Amino acid sequence: MVKIVTVSSSKGGAGKTTTTICLADYWARMGNRVGLIDTDPNKSLSRWFQKGRENGFFEGIEFRQELQDKQIIETAKQLSKTCDILLIDVAGIASISLLKAAGIADLVIIPAQPNEDDFLEAANTAAIVKEAMELTGRSIPYRTVITRGKQNTSVLRHMVNQLKRMNYPVFDTIIHDRTIYPQARFNGNTPVSLEPSGSAALEIENLAEEIVAQLVADHEKKQSQAA
Ligand SMILES: Nc1ncnc2c1ncn2[C@@H]1O[C@H](COP(=O)(O)OP(=O)(O)O)[C@@H](O)[C@H]1O
Ligand SMILES: [Mg+2]
Repeated sequence: MVKIVTVSSSKGGAGKTTTTICLADYWARMGNRVGLIDTDPNKSLSRWFQKGRENGFFEGIEFRQELQDKQIIETAKQLSKTCDILLIDVAGIASISLLKAAGIADLVIIPAQPNEDDFLEAANTAAIVKEAMELTGRSIPYRTVITRGKQNTSVLRHMVNQLKRMNYPVFDTIIHDRTIYPQARFNGNTPVSLEPSGSAALEIENLAEEIVAQLVADHEKKQSQAA
């Protein structure tokens, strides 16, 4: 059964597009059929994907640009027919698109850099996910991934500790600040294909595994509740 993962934050520059395409590239290279939808009017995922395709990357990824909130659910449904996993990159604003993309998601990933602004915006995004839960009557798990963390800095440690103390859902994997992310973007690929055994590819793999573990656990929980 297809799993839908929406990546969103109301903060621009939080790392949504980077996280989305790195995960898509990883899962596609692992042999999954991956769907990818860009709903962000800034179209940066579309440009990245297009460049990659022209350079021979991103095989196994089915891409759609869907800027009309009216069409998001239909486009997701269509892609779901042929995909194992579907990733949706959603504009960094409270919008109908976000409500819809959260409403159909099995998991919402909320990227945030380790600073107060990003975390306030992550909490705002989580509040919209909660509204989507009210509207749909479904439980929609959400979890923050810390992006652009600077290695061994006190601000990073502080942020992780604070979040855990607040019981705010956060992935153990941290996406660190690394030149290879923007560098790969220039090439139209990702660290996963640019340097498959490098540290960035490894952290993406760890994040992808945490996501799959969460999707599997949620699925099993739902099945046991239904039984
Ligand atoms: N882990 C990272 N290390 C270094 N630079 C990053 C990293 N993640 C994102 N960036 C850079 O930060 C900027 C914003 O990232 P992007 O993924 O486009 O954010 P969003 O989609 O949330 O606006 C881009 O210039 C991108 O190359
Ligand atoms: Mg973006």
